[in-house]
Order: sequence, then C-alpha cells, then structure tokens
Amino acid sequence: MTTSSNATGLHAVVDWPVRAAALAEELAAVGKLASAAWRAAVESVPRHMFVPSFYVRRDGRMVAVTAADPATRTEWSEQVYANTALVTKIGQDEAGGPPMFLSSSSTPGLMTRMLEALDVRDGARVLEIGTGTGYHAALLCHRLGDEQVFSVDVEPDLVDTARARLAELGYRPTLVAGDGAAGLVAHAPFDRVIATCSVPAIPLPWVEQTRSGGVILADVRVGLAAGNLVRLTRTAPDRAEGMFDAGQAAFMELRHAPGAGERMSYARRSDDLPVTRSVTTLDPRTPWSNPVVWFLTALRIGGHYRLGYAGVDSRNGPDAVSITTPDGSRAEITLAVIDGEHIVAESGPVRLWQHLEHAHRQWEQAGRPSWPRLGLTVTTDHQSVYVDEPGNRLAVLTGRQ
Ligand SMILES: C[S@@+](CC[C@H](N)C(=O)[O-])C[C@H]1O[C@@H](n2cnc3c(N)ncnc32)[C@H](O)[C@@H]1O
Repeated sequence: MTTSSNATGLHAVVDWPVRAAALAEELAAVGKLASAAWRAAVESVPRHMFVPSFYVRRDGRMVAVTAADPATRTEWSEQVYANTALVTKIGQDEAGGPPMFLSSSSTPGLMTRMLEALDVRDGARVLEIGTGTGYHAALLCHRLGDEQVFSVDVEPDLVDTARARLAELGYRPTLVAGDGAAGLVAHAPFDRVIATCSVPAIPLPWVEQTRSGGVILADVRVGLAAGNLVRLTRTAPDRAEGMFDAGQAAFMELRHAPGAGERMSYARRSDDLPVTRSVTTLDPRTPWSNPVVWFLTALRIGGHYRLGYAGVDSRNGPDAVSITTPDGSRAEITLAVIDGEHIVAESGPVRLWQHLEHAHRQWEQAGRPSWPRLGLTVTTDHQSVYVDEPGNRLAVLTGRQ
C-alpha cells in the first residue's frame, strides 16, 4: 500500500485540529481522557499522518482504505479521527490461511486510558513495546519530550516508516527494530514500560530494566479473550507486583520475529475417539461470558483453543457449545437443560470441561472476584495470579516470555 506525500501530508485533512479536538472531547466524555496534559497531546498530534491507510474486511477480504485513493478518501478521513482501532499491516502465513493482523493503530480511548494509568511525571523515561504507526510514540513525545521516549517494534519497515513520520512532525524519539521482549538494555533504566502488544507472561528484561518504584503496564493474555491489562510496580530488582485493570483490552500478540505469527494446526476431528459422557449443572455459556473464569480456564488448558457452537442449524440454532484444543481434545456441552443438567461429551487426551468446571469452582471459592481484585506477582522464579493479596495464589503463568 503506498500513498503520495500529498495525500499523507498535514493538508490531507485540512480541518484535522478540529477533528483531533473532537476526538479528545469524545474520549473525555466517555471517561477515557481526564488529564489536561494528555488531552493536549491528543489535540496536537495529527493521527492521520500516522495512518495514511488502513485495512477493513469487506466480502471476506481485507481491502485498503487510503487517503491516496479518491474512492476511499472520505471513509479514510472519517475513520482516522474516530475512536476506533485501525489495522495497518497484514501478513499471510505459509499455509496461505486467512490474513494475519501484524500491526494496527490501537483504539485511541484505550491508548489514553493506558497513558493515564501509566502515571508519568515530567522527566520520566518511557519504553514503549510496539511502535506500530508511531502515533502513540508521538503522544509520548508531546507529553515528555523526544529524549525521554524509546520505542521498539519487531517489524523493521514499521520502525523506518514511523521514524520518518515522527520526524516530519519534528519528533525524534529513539526507535529501534527488534524483539521488544528483550527490552532495550542499551537505554535502560526506564521509569515506565508500556506494551501495546500482548504477552503470555511478563518478560523479565522489562522488570530488570525498570527503575525501582517504576511501572510496567501490559496486556497479559494467554489466549483468545483470556487476559487483561495489568499495572505492575517494580518493588525489588527481580520483582514486580500489581493489580489487573477494571476495564478490558485486547492487543495483538507479541511475536518474537518479523512476519506472520504462529498459526496452530489442530488435530482432525475424529468420531472414532472414545467419548466420556457426564452431566453438569453449570450453564456452558457462563465460563465464556465471565472473563476472569475464562482467564483461569485458559491458564489450565493452554493458550490455543477454539470456542464454538455445535449442531448449528439455520432454523433451530446451535444445540451445544464446543471447545477444542490442538491436541484433538474436544468437549461439547448441550445448551438444553434436562432436570437442571446439561449433558457433557468429552473426547481426546484432555478433559476440557473438567478444567472449565475446576476454574469456575476456584473462582467461586475465591469470592467471585472481578479483574480489579486480581493481581500478578513477577519474580525470576515464577509469575503468579493472586486474589487481593500476593499470598492468595490462584494460578501460575507458564507462557514463554
Ligand atoms: C497494536 S500495534 C501497536 C500500535 C502502536 N503503538 C501505534 O501507536 O500505532 C502492536 C505492535 O506490536 C508489534 N510487535 C509485535 N511483537 C513485537 C515484539 N516482539 N517487539 C516489539 N514489537 C512487537 C507489532 O509489530 C505491532 O506493530
């Protein structure tokens, strides 16, 4: 996707200051932007300069919406100052599956919520993991000054483009291409580390490279819809601790190399596997619709799974929910209730529904906590999720850092 400099220049959206101010007003109205300093940043940074084009799904295909194409320019100029995430880089895996999202400009309201949660002071040195378009780095530069801002992305072309766009606006933060899981040791220590991609566990270099009392803000996500933002304070050289956020976030995964991410292959469904049948009083939709229970479940069954409905019939709809993991394990739980019970059918090496029920019981025994009662301890030995106090351990993160 290419765009002419005319189309991407400041004059591509003549009234951008009005639109940026309207975006700031909208974010303030929905409680995502409270501080004057961050409001000034949103009003002053032209987002359209960082997102001259983005992708949308249309008729099952990803198509470009760009400033350079007269047919899409109006749509582009409207979306680019909307409180919405915009996909800016896609890739194809070797198997030729559906396109994978490699980069996006995150939802502005999520960015400002995170920036405010970061609680920066003048003079703070901030490391951002996931430069992407460079827009978020520009907000940081506006607030703190270029010297204080460091940003890394695994995609070298994104870093080059972001550097050029930032320079066009007079911002010159330190941008580096590489795996942000390693942090940026040459520029450490930092007062704040903020990740705009999700991680299955906190990479230890982030803790090591944060000053004592400094903050790490990241989306800990162990699988589809299973995780949330956590704000950690470094309390000792090898320890960080803190609570999960009340809201929700869903960032794309950190990848350790440029290009398409990992795509799991799933064992073919086999009707020959022995099936274990049982009954449950737990509505099978409950664990899915409760993000904390689902997080605890995903920690037990691993990060890769598919959730779906079984027996979908256009007239009668689904008759069961299903969960499948790559090793060929499958659980199907009927939606219908007979004498207060649903029927469970499990096959394959792992009894998935049993894990779900266990996670649900654990959550009930812990007093049905929502996200803000959950915390995370990160040490060199382990990363564990607790309820209310670090001593009340609920689960352990085992994801590759
Ligand atoms: C949601 S986008 C970031 C949005 C960005 N902050 C912006 O303002 O446009 C997530 C970014 O994380 C990057 N990423 C993924 N794995 C990474 C890694 N190991 N190190 C650094 N960046 C990574 C992706 O390439 C992508 O650009």
